Amino acid sequence: MVLTGDEVRQKFLDFFESKGHLVLPSAPLVPKDDPTLLWINAGMAPFKDYFDGRATPPRTRIATSQKCIRTNDIENVGRTARHHTFFEMLGNFSFGDYFKEEAIKWAYEFLVGEMDLDPQRFWISIYKDDDQAFDIWANQIGIPAERIVRWDKDENFWEIGTGPCGPCSEIHYDMGVEFGCSDDCQFGCECDRYKEVWNLVFTQYNLTEAGEYKPLPDKNIDTGLGLERLTSILQGVESNFETDFFMPIIEAIEEHSQHEYQSSEEAKMAYRVIADHIRSITLAIGDGVLPANEGRGYVIRRILRRAVRYAGVLELESPFLHKLVSVVVRIMGEVYTEIKQKEEQIKKVVEQEELRFQETLEQGMNILEELIQGLEETDEQTISGSEVFTLYDTYGFPKELTAEIAEEKGYQIDEAGFEEAMAKQQARARAAREEHQQGHVEAELFKQLREEITEPEFVGYRNTEAEAEVLKIVMEQEEVTSLAAGDEAWVILDRTPFYAESGGQVGDQGVLLGSDLTATVVDTQYKAELIAHQVVVEAGKLELGAQITAQVRAPQRQHIKRNHTATHLLHNALRNVLGEHVEQSGSLVEAERLRFDFTHFESLSSEELEAIEKEVNYQIRENLELQVLETTLEEAEELGAVALFDNSYGNQVRVVKAGDYSVELCGGTHVDATGEISLFKIINEGGIAAGVRRIEAVTGKYALKRINHQEELLKEAASKLKAEPEQIVAKVDKVQEQVKELEKQITALKDKLASTQAGELLTNQEEINGINLVMEQVEGLDAEALRSMGDSIKSKLDSGVIVLASDLDNKVLLVAMVTDDLVEKGFNAGQIVGQVAEVVGGGGGGRPDMAQAGGSQPEKLDVAFEEVRKIIKAS
Ligand code: ALA
Repeated sequence: MVLTGDEVRQKFLDFFESKGHLVLPSAPLVPKDDPTLLWINAGMAPFKDYFDGRATPPRTRIATSQKCIRTNDIENVGRTARHHTFFEMLGNFSFGDYFKEEAIKWAYEFLVGEMDLDPQRFWISIYKDDDQAFDIWANQIGIPAERIVRWDKDENFWEIGTGPCGPCSEIHYDMGVEFGCSDDCQFGCECDRYKEVWNLVFTQYNLTEAGEYKPLPDKNIDTGLGLERLTSILQGVESNFETDFFMPIIEAIEEHSQHEYQSSEEAKMAYRVIADHIRSITLAIGDGVLPANEGRGYVIRRILRRAVRYAGVLELESPFLHKLVSVVVRIMGEVYTEIKQKEEQIKKVVEQEELRFQETLEQGMNILEELIQGLEETDEQTISGSEVFTLYDTYGFPKELTAEIAEEKGYQIDEAGFEEAMAKQQARARAAREEHQQGHVEAELFKQLREEITEPEFVGYRNTEAEAEVLKIVMEQEEVTSLAAGDEAWVILDRTPFYAESGGQVGDQGVLLGSDLTATVVDTQYKAELIAHQVVVEAGKLELGAQITAQVRAPQRQHIKRNHTATHLLHNALRNVLGEHVEQSGSLVEAERLRFDFTHFESLSSEELEAIEKEVNYQIRENLELQVLETTLEEAEELGAVALFDNSYGNQVRVVKAGDYSVELCGGTHVDATGEISLFKIINEGGIAAGVRRIEAVTGKYALKRINHQEELLKEAASKLKAEPEQIVAKVDKVQEQVKELEKQITALKDKLASTQAGELLTNQEEINGINLVMEQVEGLDAEALRSMGDSIKSKLDSGVIVLASDLDNKVLLVAMVTDDLVEKGFNAGQIVGQVAEVVGGGGGGRPDMAQAGGSQPEKLDVAFEEVRKIIKAS
């Protein structure tokens, strides 16, 4: 019987459980505390600290099925049978427990004994000098020596950035000659005949920043078995995409498209791209990543846009992708329950992002059309590189697309300029990466320091002052023993009242004082889980081992407390007023204000905002007592605690209750009773991403300050309008009416003026070779006024040529008009205006009876006018 993909996953986990492994759920796709990784990209990635001994695993044998995202090969996704942006990696891990022999034997036992694969089809690659691996495969398992090949470091040594790594051995499966690129295709060929199934890594080194391979304290095992790939072999299908992980998605697309999956290679690729990408998108959003312009959010945005482009190939009606979310949830939601829980939210985020992309494309199209029109007017042939780049960078237009559209209209793009703009942007990105890298060196140093000291005690929930000892000092990414006046550094104390930024609450500020020391603490941050004070020494010396007094700026802390408690009240009020779908997706709690981001799909009405504000203020007046409990996660859930989105809680959690109104898991600092907040005022509401809204609010004296300020403004406006504040609205209505009336009068007067002026100009007309010419320079008229003056003259002139020039902000505007009888005789306003414009340093054109142009040298108008006379004379 053919196994389903789900069964393959389960059998793997059961098998390794029977070999003493602890089966853990997949970690989220977003790495925790690992600045070197954007995404979890391998089964071992969440366990790095277990490999290098920095943390102790719950058991020395672990097995998982891990969600992974890799985007380095995204261009190949859809082209081949095996590339994916999202995939599941089955892995068994040993942390200083078993090593090569068991890893190899169990892999073989699972594939042959449990999965019924034919060992005659196995090909094994090993690291070139790994004789032990050779011996196990050849002599203990019995694979013929000619099917064991030794490959070098490129192929059979596994490392990914810095961290745990080592030689590896891969098991490949010969799919048979019918899968090969030719009859005599050999092992090692890149085609789909030999599938790499399982990578066994003998993790025994740690690659350091400096590029050294340091032996790890223990020998470990890290393996990676591609679930989709193994499933495709077992289900006997051509590629991963025909397994039951993908077929339901492909079938769902077929229901909406005129083009069937197998109808052409082009269609097939489009199906595969969409099916692959919708999995990444769904699972990533399920783990809290939202489309954005940087970082992970940008990756998801790019993937989604690529999928939309391919949906275009299949002529699917847009927006379409969001309809596939439920299919993915149906396939994977039982195992990865977060996507099932957030199904509705994911759908909405995807749909809004699709609509947004459509809008961006339309905007880009408009811009491109304007650019092309601009070229038409100025006789240029090429769209500049920077413009092509903006279209690419901001509006998602690949340069090829821009080139194609431009070509259709007979124009080209400046390729070199585009590459230059691209290179500039890459240089900017590189600089940002280097900065990131420096941060990484510092992070490593703090991790090391953490090993050397006992964890500092945080005493800041009750106190804002404490006596403490200086344990560590870090200046410019190096450990130092003392600081002098003027130095800036990070300082770790054995105990501290300073709250390190976390959970949205900003780090405390204050001072460190010693017998002859004054140092300002400008910020407090967690560095490798240590509370680190960022200090500037104002006077004296700060030395390792010194006893000092650490003092938090108490008034500032009090404001922060007000805002933090208010944030909890706001969170609850939002759920009460808008609904249970509201989830916190970020927050900032500082002294002057608070900011709260949450999931919701429409802007809030003023009634809703008012209701929320009212509810929070009511709870403030109720003066609810704040209670803090240290308890287990289970108990907290029973209490109905609202957990935050990142699930990063340990076993012991802190629960903060405001009366019975609000219960949240939270590590922050809070007031003792809600009355201390005194007043809560919303100052802003807006959208920040698809499906995410943001509220900004102020409390306490900052709320009062704001209200006072607005009252001042009102008074000032009233006094300027010469009215009482209460009458201000009526007064503004009246003033606006007056303005409208005056505008009407001005327009009427202007028309009259133009017509009178036109009459005057007519009396100045000259006659050349029997042709009437009205040619004048007027001051300060814009293009429209100039045209309307021209029209007015023309209506009074039986036959003639009119040329009007206006000098406006040091630029020249020109209008030429020719009466119909003269047009018939061959006079051409377009030609006339073109020649005049050339003289005044510009260009333009138009129809034979009416044309306009611009120039930049008003001082040359006399010469230009002479030119007109010559043209008429010559005709
Ligand atoms: N960490 C190894 C890999 O990703 C197993 O291939």
